[in-house]
Amino acid sequence: MTDGGGLRLTGLVKAYGPVRAVEGVDLDVPAGELVTVVGPSGSGKSTMLRLIAGLERPDAGMVAVGGQDLRDVPPHRRSVAMVFQDYALYPHLTVRENIMFGLRVRKVPKGEARRQAGAAAERLGIADLLDRYPDQASGGQRQRVALARALVRSPAVYLLDEPLVSLDAQLRLSTRADLLALHRQIGSTTLHVTHDQAEAMTMGDRVVVMDAGRIRQAGPPQEVYDAPADTFVAGFLGSPPMNLVPGGGVLGGAAGGTVGVRPEDLALDPAGPIEATVDAVETLGSEAVLLTRCPDGLRLAVRTPPRLSLRPGDTVRLRFDPDRLHRFDAAGRRV
Ligand SMILES: Nc1ncnc2c1ncn2[C@@H]1O[C@H](COP(=O)(O)OP(=O)(O)OP(=O)(O)O)[C@@H](O)[C@H]1O
Ligand SMILES: [Mg+2]
Repeated sequence: MTDGGGLRLTGLVKAYGPVRAVEGVDLDVPAGELVTVVGPSGSGKSTMLRLIAGLERPDAGMVAVGGQDLRDVPPHRRSVAMVFQDYALYPHLTVRENIMFGLRVRKVPKGEARRQAGAAAERLGIADLLDRYPDQASGGQRQRVALARALVRSPAVYLLDEPLVSLDAQLRLSTRADLLALHRQIGSTTLHVTHDQAEAMTMGDRVVVMDAGRIRQAGPPQEVYDAPADTFVAGFLGSPPMNLVPGGGVLGGAAGGTVGVRPEDLALDPAGPIEATVDAVETLGSEAVLLTRCPDGLRLAVRTPPRLSLRPGDTVRLRFDPDRLHRFDAAGRRV
């Protein structure tokens, strides 16, 4: 357990010309917590990580690790390891040299660095690649080299920018499990950016949802899922995300506001109050998602058991449990 390795971001701002990449981020991550970060493309996730790593200077605000303001601490002196979205491996160094790089910069003796690099490579299943160059490895393998390079550093804070995105589904699952096991073992404070909903929900002690450079909500995954703070979060988390009905419509009136219902909280029922036409049936094996359309044009996604004999164009009736509705005010905030 790395003690005192908590991370605190205060009023962090970073603009690139007119682009407000990070727009006032406050975040407190206690030592040892794993936070998953989600948000649409361009919402400032990578920029936030780069500010923490010291690769960018904030226009305003502060990054602190273990209570220390890092303003004047250069990147290589920060107890922070980052796995980049694009791997950022050194092409002229072998896989082994890439993994050892951070250790050598920190003056770890060569033999010990080699040993640690070998152990990390073994752990990530890339031991047979140690003497190759990055361009002789596949995308998924390069990603694991980048992970191994971060793992050997044992920093106070890990910043992982979509570290599993290039892995195939199976490897992704096993690497996810490895990462979690490793996290439990070394207990480093971790920010893990992902576009994968399942990863965001299952890996994080908390999930942070970003939009347009701001944090919309931060909380335990189930809490954020069950009680999204606003319509943005409601429409972002979940696959498919929550159905949002401006004005309430078929879900019942909401003067000026919006009413939402998750696809799993709608059900087929011949006596249900909502009539809709099936636009498409997405069969996912263990379940199906019906994409339906009400007479007024409103689209509703419905999660159903698999093997229904419904076809596009069929008419269905839907029911919902009033207790499972989510209400948002005119500004989109949860009521
Ligand atoms: N070096 C840069 N110069 C100018 N604009 C930049 C630069 N880096 C990022 N941006 C802009 O800042 C915003 C945030 O970018 P960032 O890379 O942080 O997004 P992201 O959330 O990581 O997106 P993605 O999910 O696509 O990786 C975007 O509008 C992006 O175009
Ligand atoms: Mg990014």
